[in-house]
Amino acid sequence: MGRARKKSASRRNEHGESVKVLLSGIRIQRKIRELANEIRRDFPGEPLHLVGVLKGAVFFLSDLARQISGDVSFDFIAVSSYGKETESSGQVKLTRDLDANIEGKTVIVVEDILDTGLTLQYLLRVFEQRKPKRLRVAVLLDKEDRRIAPVRADYVGFKIPNAFVVGFGLDYAERYRNLPYVGTLSLGAGKKEERAQE
Ligand code: IMP
Ligand code: MG
Repeated sequence: MGRARKKSASRRNEHGESVKVLLSGIRIQRKIRELANEIRRDFPGEPLHLVGVLKGAVFFLSDLARQISGDVSFDFIAVSSYGKETESSGQVKLTRDLDANIEGKTVIVVEDILDTGLTLQYLLRVFEQRKPKRLRVAVLLDKEDRRIAPVRADYVGFKIPNAFVVGFGLDYAERYRNLPYVGTLSLGAGKKEERAQE
């Protein structure tokens, strides 16, 4: 067996998939510190209420919250977008609501990734009806080219090209969320063929 072949085969995991590092853990942590400082500068002395979108935003929120100085509280909401595999369908459903009322609060919605924007468009509509004092959006990743809904984030960690990414909270079939970095996923050969026939 040739060396090159052996090397590429060993990079595929037991699912026949491989992940290539796009953003290292160190870069992500540095960026989160910058975003936290920017957010605090924009709202000096003000209590901030972070709302994380489960499950993808858990690590981003937990790191961000610990880097923002002063008064910070947080809560979580969960939505499912009836997507299959690596595409979201655009139909969003609220599957877990917030614990606390957000009326009169300075709310920062914390999302892992802004893709088509359909999830965030839905959430912002829901939150606006609840009369927060201010409503802002922080996303770790932004795939600008994929946007369908006219939404934008106030705080963006990284603009990334249109590739399917995993890690730092982001999953493929619930796997890879625990990677401490963000990487691009390549599916196994069999899965690519299946997808091509859809
Ligand atoms: P949107 O509604 O299309 O903006 O999609 C938002 C949601 O789709 C994100 O919160 C993710 O859960 C998921 N998503 C979009 N792109 C990716 C990706 O590249 N990897 C993993 N999940 C993604
Ligand atoms: Mg998500």
